[in-house]
Amino acid sequence: MKKTDATWCLHVEGFRPGEVELNGNRFMLGNGYMGVRGTLEEHGKVQRAGCLLNGVYDQVPGKWREPVNAPHGLFTTLEGAGQIVAHEQTLDLRRGRMARRTRYENVSVSSERFVSLDDVHLMCMRYHAAPKPGAGVRVRTGIDTELWEINGPHFKSLERDRREGVESVVGVTGELGIVVAVCAAVEPLDAHGFAKYVAVYTSLDGVDPLPAARAKCLEAKASGYDALGRAHDACWDAVWRRCDVEIEGDDEAQFALRYSLYQLQLAAPRHSDRVSIPARGLSGQVYKGAVFWDTELFMLPVFTLTDPRVARNLIMYRCHTLEGARAKAAEYGYRGAFFAWESQERGNDACTHFNVTDVFTGRPIRTYFRDKQIHISADIVYAIGAYYEQTGDFSVLIDGAAEVVAECARFFYSYAYYKKDKQRYELLDVTGPDEYHERVHNNAFTNRMVKAALDIACVILDRLEREAPDAHAALDRKIGFRAELDAWREMAQRLYVPPPDADGIIPQCDGYRALEDVSLEELKGRMLNPTEYLGGGNGLATTTQILKQADVVLMLHLFFSDYPQETIRKNWEYYEPRCEHGSSLSACAYALVAARLGDTDWAYRYFMQTATVDLTGASTQYIGDLYIGGTHPAANGGAWMSVVFGFAGLRTGTEGLTVTPRLPAHWQRVRFRIEYRGTPYRIDIDSDAAVVIEAKRKKKSGQPV
Ligand code: BGC
Repeated sequence: MKKTDATWCLHVEGFRPGEVELNGNRFMLGNGYMGVRGTLEEHGKVQRAGCLLNGVYDQVPGKWREPVNAPHGLFTTLEGAGQIVAHEQTLDLRRGRMARRTRYENVSVSSERFVSLDDVHLMCMRYHAAPKPGAGVRVRTGIDTELWEINGPHFKSLERDRREGVESVVGVTGELGIVVAVCAAVEPLDAHGFAKYVAVYTSLDGVDPLPAARAKCLEAKASGYDALGRAHDACWDAVWRRCDVEIEGDDEAQFALRYSLYQLQLAAPRHSDRVSIPARGLSGQVYKGAVFWDTELFMLPVFTLTDPRVARNLIMYRCHTLEGARAKAAEYGYRGAFFAWESQERGNDACTHFNVTDVFTGRPIRTYFRDKQIHISADIVYAIGAYYEQTGDFSVLIDGAAEVVAECARFFYSYAYYKKDKQRYELLDVTGPDEYHERVHNNAFTNRMVKAALDIACVILDRLEREAPDAHAALDRKIGFRAELDAWREMAQRLYVPPPDADGIIPQCDGYRALEDVSLEELKGRMLNPTEYLGGGNGLATTTQILKQADVVLMLHLFFSDYPQETIRKNWEYYEPRCEHGSSLSACAYALVAARLGDTDWAYRYFMQTATVDLTGASTQYIGDLYIGGTHPAANGGAWMSVVFGFAGLRTGTEGLTVTPRLPAHWQRVRFRIEYRGTPYRIDIDSDAAVVIEAKRKKKSGQPV
């Protein structure tokens, strides 16, 4: 490998069976439509091979609803190869390509593959097997229908066929009868090599899947691997021109950040505004392939400022799923929109009432993620507000976002209690980001987010009235919000946001500081099983101040200017030792706040933690007996935020763009681009904190120069 590649390539040498699953995540390819796990071609169900389709879900009666893993079109087996003698695997982040070279006792195999970013239905592979003279090695390539499924089987039928040199498998899902067609065409290259073109279509794509996939394969074969590869590379090039962050003086951080951006980008929907980015990207069926608040608070900031078209798709996904949110609010007896905690394609909530199993009894535990994490609706409004402010895209409001913000405001008004004696609104019986403390009162994060959501909703609806009175009137005719606006405004003003107490600590919720103050080590020492759940009804953390993940600290990141720095520091120092970081969402919040406080060493530590989570695999793998491994796009987004908002100190707001850098001492330079209100900017910061912000003109086509 060339030295310059070290910050663009993941390279692993040696084959360790214990790392096959991790490598499946680490070497992922994808294009927002599908994600192909980085297992080897000969791997199947046992090694968790996967081709996950974004937005295609199925439910087997009595089991969890989850995304569908399509038949595996790159599948290629070796007979008589013998044992592995040497192995290396490389992921080229710049071009989204994975390559492997494996020397077996009797044959040397090399392959390269990409999942096209130019044509989301297509993946291509070049495969070469050079047998030892006289060795009886047989290579067979086909489509594997033995599928890794957590809650399957999802196909009620799978039919094979071969026509015009194209092999096909057509599956029909059990619940909704969705047709998934996978076709593969093989082109011999020489005596020992071939190229393979695999196309995937489903009946959700608005075409007849089998003919479409077959035609795509033939078209791909006619174009050839190289030409398709060039078109694919050009798309990745365009992605990197927008989002790359260059760090000089720290190759490790540089690589980790690029790797994080790579993982985030390969799950990003460019082709559709009907899907979003699930919490585990497209790496598997974990977490039911569902979309959480992870998208709005941890991923959207990256796209809003680097590729607003993707950000818009993510926001439109929420607009299209508003019906599901209305239904959920109604189910609990509220008005407005209560978005799903674990959202699937129609905004239906995949989260169950019993989402964790007790490792001791094997019985499900009643959890309140679904019922009580009302902050999800506020997180969505917050993201819409930031998107609108940072892009100036008014059209998204008319296309559905204004309705979303109004319905969320309505939901919060119907959820809140007005305490006459205290003359304030309170939010009782909620769960904040720290899921170890369920059903608490006045969670600081939730209350502050709801206040922001009400403010944003009012600003957006006022703006709509001024700038698009017809759309405003039409929305009012549809959902009749006008008469409620004043009440929302009043609630925003009178909503209680827990202030710092006499010690300067903002209590995470009412009564939090009266809970047992135990160290994390001591609490862990009380555990009887390494994967026992610390939350739920009687989890060990519930009666203590130990929290699962950033909660108050995340709020301080989002509302930094609300508080004096001294308060922020005190709270960071208070919560840091009490935080388990049991969620991959947690580290970046601590990095972001530490960076803004000038605690660069702490910030760096947490930044590296968030940026390397998918490289090391050092994240929580089980909750109880529930497998939650896979990739972590929220942590990936958190890595970008830690550098851009944290170390570089980028802010947007009424005074436009500002940059207040606090780089780690060993960093010599940081450079990145953003697009702010339609204008692309280059930002260049050197080790003396000298900042150059350069605005770029746009070509007429709207593309940055
Ligand atoms: C975290 C949630 C998060 C979810 C998906 C959970 O472990 O507590 O905050 O949304 O994982 O990433």
